[in-house]
Amino acid sequence: MPVIAVVGAQWGDEGKGRVVDYLAATGGELDRPVDVVIRFQGGDNAGHTVVNPLGEFKLHLVPSGIFSPTTHCVIGTGCVVNPDSLIVEMDALHAAGLALNNLFVSSRAHITFPHHCQIDGLEESARGAKAIGTTGRGIGPTYADKAARWGLRVGDLLNPDRLRQRLAAALPRTNRAVDILGGLPTELDALTDQCLDWGRRLQPYITDSLPLVRDALERDRTILLEGQLGVMRDLDWGAYPYVTSSNPIASYGPVGAGLPLQAVTQVIGVVKAYVTAVGAGPLPTELNDQMGDDLRRVGNEYGATTGRPRRCGWLDAVALDYARWLNGFTSIVVTKLDVLDGMPEIRICTGYRLPSGQIVTRMPDPATLGSVEPEYESWPGWLCATNQARRWEDLPGEAQQYLGRIEELTGAPIGWVSVGPAREAMVAVKR
Ligand code: IMP
Repeated sequence: MPVIAVVGAQWGDEGKGRVVDYLAATGGELDRPVDVVIRFQGGDNAGHTVVNPLGEFKLHLVPSGIFSPTTHCVIGTGCVVNPDSLIVEMDALHAAGLALNNLFVSSRAHITFPHHCQIDGLEESARGAKAIGTTGRGIGPTYADKAARWGLRVGDLLNPDRLRQRLAAALPRTNRAVDILGGLPTELDALTDQCLDWGRRLQPYITDSLPLVRDALERDRTILLEGQLGVMRDLDWGAYPYVTSSNPIASYGPVGAGLPLQAVTQVIGVVKAYVTAVGAGPLPTELNDQMGDDLRRVGNEYGATTGRPRRCGWLDAVALDYARWLNGFTSIVVTKLDVLDGMPEIRICTGYRLPSGQIVTRMPDPATLGSVEPEYESWPGWLCATNQARRWEDLPGEAQQYLGRIEELTGAPIGWVSVGPAREAMVAVKR
């Protein structure tokens, strides 16, 4: 049975949430719901928008397969969990009628505390004009504590003695750092009480996720690994330092989920039909003109977590080639094709002109992208609505041509094309 990683091929916000919701509920080619969905990295910096028969949801921590009642959804070991955000999100899902008895939180996932969010904000202020433009959700400071081995894990919420001992060891160091940055210290007793409250509330969901994942693989169940963000914000491969603090690329999927490497059978890259990014850092194809504003307005390109306007631009095939190489896509899903319906001309960046004048089609170190100029090719728009299309034949010829070119440039076949936010607005590409 397949183990499918679903990952972002650009700067994040490609539509992974809607793809995972669709695949989890329908099974895609399998024609039955996926058995297990595991979020493998990131935290509540994610904003996965899902529109389905139950309504519209913005998921931050809960895996996007949660609406399929028979699908086990795991917040994996590679994730960082802000218990307050998780509880707010769970309350909203309960209010929408979900029982959430298919939700599991790995006891090994690290906890994002209020002081991590405070440090994130203070560090961003300290960076001044060089701010990364983080989501302010404490992601970097949580992963930093994890790597420095001062972090606390979700399972610690259920063990009062260990919890107090770990907090007592970690807090003086944290408070010293906060003091230097000009913030407020955290009180040990107050935070311990808060943790015990979180533990009482989350106890039914906290589990050692490994037996569940292992059992699923051994019983040949279908497993979907849900990534957050995209390769261009990867800690190692993105435009450092304008990156997140974890690895959104597919090879981190088995690490964050608890699977052997060779278990992964498919890697689906999610590609928005154009490019968007929130936060700072280079974005070669950014459109700072009316066209960019039109993409933002028609595509409703505002951050699902922070509400910030997203930067918009033309599709970048150099970035896609880089994403394909680093992820090993077996197929791609192109999302938000319908947003281009009103564009008379559509451009694709096929190369970068370096300051030396040389044109390259392979990604240099993304940290240098601030000094490249995009080289474009132009495609005719289709100037008609695609949102009712459900089969490849329903798409206008120009849209088929544009998609064919994306396939060619990405080197991976298109499995589906999304033409609207609702679950059913998907074209299954069978050619
Ligand atoms: P952090 O992950 O909050 O530390 O932010 C690091 C960078 O990743 C910033 O540029 C953020 O805007 C960006 N980022 C983080 N999460 C998301 C997301 O879910 N979608 C898009 N960009 C994100």
